[in-house]
Amino acid sequence: MAQVLRHLPPADDPRVLVAALTRDDAAVFRTSDDRAIVATLDFFTPIVDDPYSFGAIAAANALSDLYAMGATPLFALNIVAWPVEPGISELLGPAIQGAVDKAREAGAFILGGHSIDDREPKLGMVAVGEVHPDRVITNAGARPGDRLVLTKPVGTGILSTALKQGIITEEAMASAIESMTTLNAGAMRAMRDVGRGVHAATDVTGFGLMGHVHNMLAASGVGGRLFANAIPRFEGVADLIIQGTVPGGTKRNLQAAEEYARWEKELSQTTRSLLCDAQTSGGLLIAVEADRTEALLRALREHRTPAASVVGEIVEDASSSLEVVDGPA
Ligand code: CO
Ligand code: CO
Ligand code: CO
Repeated sequence: MAQVLRHLPPADDPRVLVAALTRDDAAVFRTSDDRAIVATLDFFTPIVDDPYSFGAIAAANALSDLYAMGATPLFALNIVAWPVEPGISELLGPAIQGAVDKAREAGAFILGGHSIDDREPKLGMVAVGEVHPDRVITNAGARPGDRLVLTKPVGTGILSTALKQGIITEEAMASAIESMTTLNAGAMRAMRDVGRGVHAATDVTGFGLMGHVHNMLAASGVGGRLFANAIPRFEGVADLIIQGTVPGGTKRNLQAAEEYARWEKELSQTTRSLLCDAQTSGGLLIAVEADRTEALLRALREHRTPAASVVGEIVEDASSSLEVVDGPA
C-alpha cells in the first residue's frame, strides 16, 4: 500500500479531511457542514478454510477502517478474484454469503461489486460510511499522557499461517476466528459513549500492533511506550512462534521496527514477533486521556469487545520512537 501512496499527489482542497498522507485508515471527504463521506477498501487471500468464515472476516476487516474513523457504515461493493475451477468456484457462494451477512449485521447494504477470474481466491470490499465532520477520529490526535487501549487480542497472522501449514486445525483457532469475525462496531460505540478524552484511533491490521502504534505516533508527533506483558494474545500463539511459525509479513514488520523500536533487552524474540504479527481484522487501538481510561474500559466491556486492555501510553518524543518494556513501571 505504501508503494501506491508514494505516487499520489497531495489533495489540496478544504473538503478533504483525511487523505493518504497520514497513513490513516480511510479517506474522509466533507460534503456539507454536518456530513462527511468515509471510504476505504481491503481484500486478501483466504486465511481460514471455511469459505463462509472467510467472507465474514473479509467484510469485518473492510468495515473496520470505517469504525476506526468513528464512522457509521452505509454500503459496500464486493471485490472478488476467484478461480473458475471445479471444486473451488463452488466455494464463492458461501464466501459471499458470509460477507453479506456480516455487512447486514453492520447495518450496511452490499450494492454491487466486480469479479475477475484469478488463480488464487481473493475477497474484500469497498466500504462507504458517514460521520459528522466534527466527530472524525483520526490516528493523528494522540497526546502525551494518553493511555493506549486495545480491543482484540493479537496473533491471527501466526495462527492462520499455522493453519495453512497444517500444524493446527481450524478448531484450535476458533477464538481467533470468532474475534476476526467480530465487527469493531462495539469498540466504535464505546468511543462515542466516552466522547471527550478519546484523542485518536486506528485498527490493527497488516503492519501489526507495533506498526500501527508507530503510524499513530508519527501522525501525532509523539512517542510511545508499550507494556509487552499487558498485550492480550490468543492461546497457543507463543508456542507456535517458538516452533518456527512466523509469517512473511510479520518478519517484514519486525525488520521495519528496527527503525523506530527500542526493545527492552530482556524481551524475547517470541514477544517481539508477537507484537509485530500482521493482523487481519484486528481490534481498535485507542489513545485516550488518562482520567477517561476507566470510562472507556467500562464502555468496551459493556459492548463486549473481544479484549479491553491498557497496553501502553503516549509520551513526549518528537522522533516518534516506540519503547517496549515488559510492564508498567
Ligand atoms: Co485500518
Ligand atoms: Co485497511
Ligand atoms: Co483513523
